[in-house]
Amino acid sequence: MDNLSEKVAELSKRRGFFFQSSEAYGGVAGFQTYGPEGAELKRKLENSWRENFSRKLGHREIDAPTVMPEPVFEASGHLDGFDDMIVECPECGESIRADHLVEDNTDIDEAEGHSTEQIEVLIEEHDLFCTRCGNSLAGVEVEDFNLMFETSIGPGSGDTGYLRPETAQGIFVEFPRLKEYMRNQLPFGITQIGKAYRNEISPRKGLVRTREFTQAELEHFIDPDEDKPDIRDVRDVELKLYPVEEQQKTDGEYIYATVEEAVEEGLVHEWVAYYLGVAKKWYESIGIDMDRFRFRQHNEGERAHYATDCWDAESDIGDEDEDWLEIAGFAYRGCYDLTKHKEYSGDEKDFQIFKEYDEPKVTEQTELNPDMGYFGPEFGDQAQEVVEELEELKEREPEAFEADKVMIEIDGDNYMIPSEKAGFEKKEVKKSGEHIVPHVVEPSFGVDRTVYTVLVHGFAEDKVDGEDRTLMQLSPEIAPTQVAVFPLMDKEGLGEKAREIASNLREKGFSVKYDDTGNIGKRYRRQDEVGTPICVTVDYETLEEDPETVTLRDRDSTMQKRVKISELEEEISSRL
Ligand code: GAP
Repeated sequence: MDNLSEKVAELSKRRGFFFQSSEAYGGVAGFQTYGPEGAELKRKLENSWRENFSRKLGHREIDAPTVMPEPVFEASGHLDGFDDMIVECPECGESIRADHLVEDNTDIDEAEGHSTEQIEVLIEEHDLFCTRCGNSLAGVEVEDFNLMFETSIGPGSGDTGYLRPETAQGIFVEFPRLKEYMRNQLPFGITQIGKAYRNEISPRKGLVRTREFTQAELEHFIDPDEDKPDIRDVRDVELKLYPVEEQQKTDGEYIYATVEEAVEEGLVHEWVAYYLGVAKKWYESIGIDMDRFRFRQHNEGERAHYATDCWDAESDIGDEDEDWLEIAGFAYRGCYDLTKHKEYSGDEKDFQIFKEYDEPKVTEQTELNPDMGYFGPEFGDQAQEVVEELEELKEREPEAFEADKVMIEIDGDNYMIPSEKAGFEKKEVKKSGEHIVPHVVEPSFGVDRTVYTVLVHGFAEDKVDGEDRTLMQLSPEIAPTQVAVFPLMDKEGLGEKAREIASNLREKGFSVKYDDTGNIGKRYRRQDEVGTPICVTVDYETLEEDPETVTLRDRDSTMQKRVKISELEEEISSRL
């Protein structure tokens, strides 16, 4: 086996990171189960995200349901536009994602932005075949396929609901309550970590493209006219950027710029740049290899229906050839979502914030108070129409009412109306504020793809004492086990001592595994494969020496050192 992804998949299955779910029943494509090591790794990664994107930034986390009623998705645009392109093989019935078929078999990198008709033409021009049976797909219709899972809420035919395709909608629909909780003060950020569901046409193996996955999303609500990101903490973070212009060149290059430079040079929207900086720092801390990482800008065709600027964080999960995977998206969603929910829910004010002015503003307002005692007898059935025309004229050209008479046109006929009968008035109105629809900046992370990247980038092979070794170089921040404690054997008090050390370290907050089965070499290899940074071994010397000592072994270098038990906690803390 020499392919990196196959090796990672094999190790993940064998060591309990992740594997195909419901395998006993043949498994269903697109669903994966995290084993004990994977579940712990994912939980730690989520906690680290929570720490860095919620707590440290002063945002608040919510937990909304995964099933939502149909009107939510009518408003959000998912019902109409959350489609991928599908082509079905007339010979064997295989469903294939049409834009990916084109990307995989031509030199077109981004086919997502093409229309179904354009993809049909490309399939014909390049004479593309079914990936399963090899039948030609030329002339086969390419259709849109909605990715949402539909369900029925309640007994009988019930109400139609959908499993949410993004956790974000769970935040947007709760905006009326959330803004109240935030005492109507912008800016504020709401985070959520939870499951999202997409009925992917062609799920990819493992965690890369599944039908049920976890997202960690942050919706930062801002006043676009007032709020600026505080970039102090990330000003000097260097970003590796791949803007649209560079992607369009045959010899396009990465642009390296700090967050501050990216903003000043107008390369990235200021809010998006700020979050790219926060994300870069986080990705580094969880062990993602920065040589195999970039931020790529979306081109217009690829951008989601709600986004005005969008950059993806991408990791290279390939072996010798590059294979870029989107692990997060950073979108400036503008006021799209709240405006839509405002329109569809009928809650005009609830999806807005009342923005109070520092000083009340005096504005001039115009009003019409038509004298119906004149218009009724004069215009009969047409009176209402005449008044509406006057209202429109007032909006369009208020100065027209300064003359004695104003002229309006109805169905090609002109009418002269005495201005005094229209009751035109100018008034000064004092306003203490106005209702605005906040804008949204959204960093949206795929947790599973991040876990997968951490595993691919952490995977390594070397030789120790002439023997092949496989190891996962996981960051101590997210390694499922930080310290493994072994007695040489569970005899003559060694096991007891090792259990005591393990228990003390757990008390101190480390994640610790105790293991006394098999020979020491094998135990080291097992922990290397699940990414445990430190192993501690209790042997006969431990009990003989005063003060007592243990052997501490480093995963990556395999170097061993004797450490006094009394200094163990300090030594481990400094290494982690
Ligand atoms: N709210 C914005 C949003 O959902 P997205 O780019 O569609 O944006 C965000 O999804 C992230 O979710 C992606 O960057 C990716 O990491 C992850 N993701 C999307 N579809 C996925 C799938 N089928 N399997 C695993 N992860 C997925």
